[in-house]
Amino acid sequence: MSIVIAGTGSYVPEKILTNADLEKMVETSDEWIRTRTGIEERRIAEPGQASADLAYEAGCRALEAAGITGADLDTIIVATVTPNHVFPSNGCILQAKLGATKAFCFDVEAACSGLLYTLEIGRALLNMIPSRRYALVIGAEKLSCITDWSDRNTCVLFGDGAGAVVLEKTAETEDGRGIIATDIHSDGNYAEILKMPAGGSRIPATEQTVRDHLHFIKMEGRETFKLAVNAMVSAAKTVMVSAGVASSEIGVVIPHQANLRIINAVAQRLDVPEDRLFVNINKYGNTSAASIGICMDEAIRSGRVKRGDVMLLTTFGGGLTWGAALIRY
Ligand code: UT7
Repeated sequence: MSIVIAGTGSYVPEKILTNADLEKMVETSDEWIRTRTGIEERRIAEPGQASADLAYEAGCRALEAAGITGADLDTIIVATVTPNHVFPSNGCILQAKLGATKAFCFDVEAACSGLLYTLEIGRALLNMIPSRRYALVIGAEKLSCITDWSDRNTCVLFGDGAGAVVLEKTAETEDGRGIIATDIHSDGNYAEILKMPAGGSRIPATEQTVRDHLHFIKMEGRETFKLAVNAMVSAAKTVMVSAGVASSEIGVVIPHQANLRIINAVAQRLDVPEDRLFVNINKYGNTSAASIGICMDEAIRSGRVKRGDVMLLTTFGGGLTWGAALIRY
């Protein structure tokens, strides 16, 4: 059996926050942000919009593209570091909204690698039981609510959004469509370099933690940058070697959108020309778990990726977590 992409969907909030807007909030400049990150603007959810609302919009679009309804789903998995609540999960919230009565639903926390993790978990869960056919996997983030808008080191980087994929288990297709190879890793030894310190059981929320800005993303940028390039390249090479796919056979490379300099460094080391690299960081910034899903959806809907084309996904995030996947669409 193969696990194929039956449909994709994405959603970004309407409100745009430009670099010029940020110049009025912190000591930064459009020039610094563009040259150091490639970001020009990002989307910000409305106060009443939570991450499950963004996930719902993306999920509906993916279901429509797949030609199925919530009732057809066997599982819903949401990757997020900004769930509506610690519990219940966004997965369960979506189940009710989508009428996915027979699906079992849960969340995955793998930071920016979340969507890739859910692709792997969704694939495994579908393969496990013969009667399971459809999994809806979604990366959805409202990072604006864990961004410290007084910290120029981080606030220029992040944005809100959601990307969704419907996975379907089918008999093997003649053109070999489906998930071809994956390579997924974690290294908790680097847990401290990218995290949100408070709000969990280690440092529960208090008035002091709020005063100390401990409910926001903290990142050692330079260290994260170096690790990201090496990890994304290594995972990408592993899937290419294990599948016997050369760089020239890949239609589109979709890297996690954390920094244009990281994306370009990864492409250079993988020998991928610019025209086969998918980039939308200029419009959305880093949307963590949503990033790869939004890119996949835009690449497919714009015709950059056509049926039969091979996509190479590669990602990196807090945990640390990283990985890559080769998928024939
Ligand atoms: O999504 C998952 C993982 N995330 C990543 O992979 C992100 C990885 N890291 C990065 O993308 C980059 O490290 C950053 C974009 C976060 C920072 O870029 P950098 O080139 O590594 O800059 P830096 O942190 O080394 O800072 C260079 C200078 C510093 O000033 P001094 O100490 O040299 O005087 C910073 O204070 O740039 C300063 N700076 C800024 N200046 C204007 C930092 N942020 C800003 C800013 N505007 N927004």
